[in-house]
Amino acid sequence: MGGRVLSVASECVPLVKTGGLADVVGALPSALKPTGWDMRVLLPAYRALRARAANWPVVWEEPDLWGGSGRVLAGEEAGVPLLLLDAPHLYDREGGPYSGPQGEHPDNAIRFAALSWVGSRIAREGLEGWKPDVLHAHDWQAGLAPAYLAYHGNGGCKSVITIHNIAFQGWAPGHMLGTLRLPGHAFHADALEYYGGISSLKAALVTADWITTVSPSYAAEIMREEFGMGLQGVIANRAQVVSGILNGVDTESWSPQVEDPPFGPKALAGKAACRAKLCEEFGLEVPGPLAIVVSRLTDQKGIDLLPQVVPDFVVGGGGLIVLGSGEPHLEGAMRDLAARFPGRVAVQIGYDEKLSHRLFAGADAVLVPSRFEPCGLTQMYGLRYGTLPVVSMVGGLADTVIGANPATLAAGAATGVTFHPVDALAFGRALDQLLEIHRQPKLWAKLRANAMAHPVGWETSAAAYASLYERLVA
Ligand code: ADP
Ligand code: GLC
Repeated sequence: MGGRVLSVASECVPLVKTGGLADVVGALPSALKPTGWDMRVLLPAYRALRARAANWPVVWEEPDLWGGSGRVLAGEEAGVPLLLLDAPHLYDREGGPYSGPQGEHPDNAIRFAALSWVGSRIAREGLEGWKPDVLHAHDWQAGLAPAYLAYHGNGGCKSVITIHNIAFQGWAPGHMLGTLRLPGHAFHADALEYYGGISSLKAALVTADWITTVSPSYAAEIMREEFGMGLQGVIANRAQVVSGILNGVDTESWSPQVEDPPFGPKALAGKAACRAKLCEEFGLEVPGPLAIVVSRLTDQKGIDLLPQVVPDFVVGGGGLIVLGSGEPHLEGAMRDLAARFPGRVAVQIGYDEKLSHRLFAGADAVLVPSRFEPCGLTQMYGLRYGTLPVVSMVGGLADTVIGANPATLAAGAATGVTFHPVDALAFGRALDQLLEIHRQPKLWAKLRANAMAHPVGWETSAAAYASLYERLVA
């Protein structure tokens, strides 16, 4: 069958990225193409994007967009069909998508309401020759789009909200209800009212035709207090329209065949060469497994556990390279670790896509000790590169990695090491297990082969999104 989907999001690779959301939004259009679903991505024209779109045709004009006018420019970047919302008074600013030199933009509620507003209007009325069948909103930034369709008419367009991270809920004070073009009757605990204010994520959760999240386990977890971040009741109430669809990764750019030197499951000499180069680059000499962390350095990611477990791992022969940026105290803790274990632990604070490739290519293992993880992408890069994932058993980590234990080893199925609960004791034992497996080269080779054979592409998930859209429009 097939049809048209308007994807509404605040990030999209290769234009703007702060996390995995951008990878997913950027990958979906081409992943969906073979299913017959034509997806275009509506994204704010942030400062860095305006120049690229300068000559793109204007396909929509919005005269009254909270203090200025907006227009939508249509074009394509790296195979992603794009609709850029150009509204300089909202988006032509210094800094990232959410903050500038002074921190978070104080008008973020309005900036993303504007994105959602224009998304809902295009969904309802259609562009010339392109009327969407489904509006697919991502995270709180696009959360008001399904709400606007519900409250102002949907013009026959269905809506889906995908939760990439329920920790971010888009809260605004209640007095903004009218300003945000939301009706008085929606200010209600059964609708979008949340702690006396307005949550744009909750608005989507109560109005969208369907709710997805980025792994089946996270879909179940967020109905419980431990993971729901206050919204567990709202999700549980709509359990019959909630599903989890795993993310994939871009298997063309994330391929051991594009690394230097290239390698593959049956040609691992290249991986050994990548490891040697990496050790030289960072001045490391590691007799045991060389682990990496490539991550935002935040509480979610369990980074604070590293200083408690790395010392024993190093004594056991292991080494570690951390690439990441985030909370200053965690950046400091990582620097301290490197200073404590010269030649074994190295840290690079910052964001570096190219280095991240070299790390996955050269390392033996990737550590992902997240407290919660809606999906997670780095464990999947690890699988693809034969860089064994060591992960906590939460969310998408539990859904993508088969931990070594007597049953999975007997079945020859293990692809990594998993642990639970998320604390230093369990994490430390997982690292002991990694060291133990590394001492058995045949077993290590078996796990690595299993990991590299595990499918991490988009095919299955794209088909799942396509069949969801089909069901909604049927
Ligand atoms: P999240 O979106 O919660 O940060 P994901 O695992 O879904 O977690 O996605 C993170 C993405 O960002 C991955 O593509 C990862 O490789 C990338 N990434 C995170 N930190 C860095 C960094 N410091 N340098 C390069 N890439 C990074
Ligand atoms: C969020 C989640 C991460 C997920 C990504 C893409 O940032 O933290 O687990 O992989 O979104 O869906």
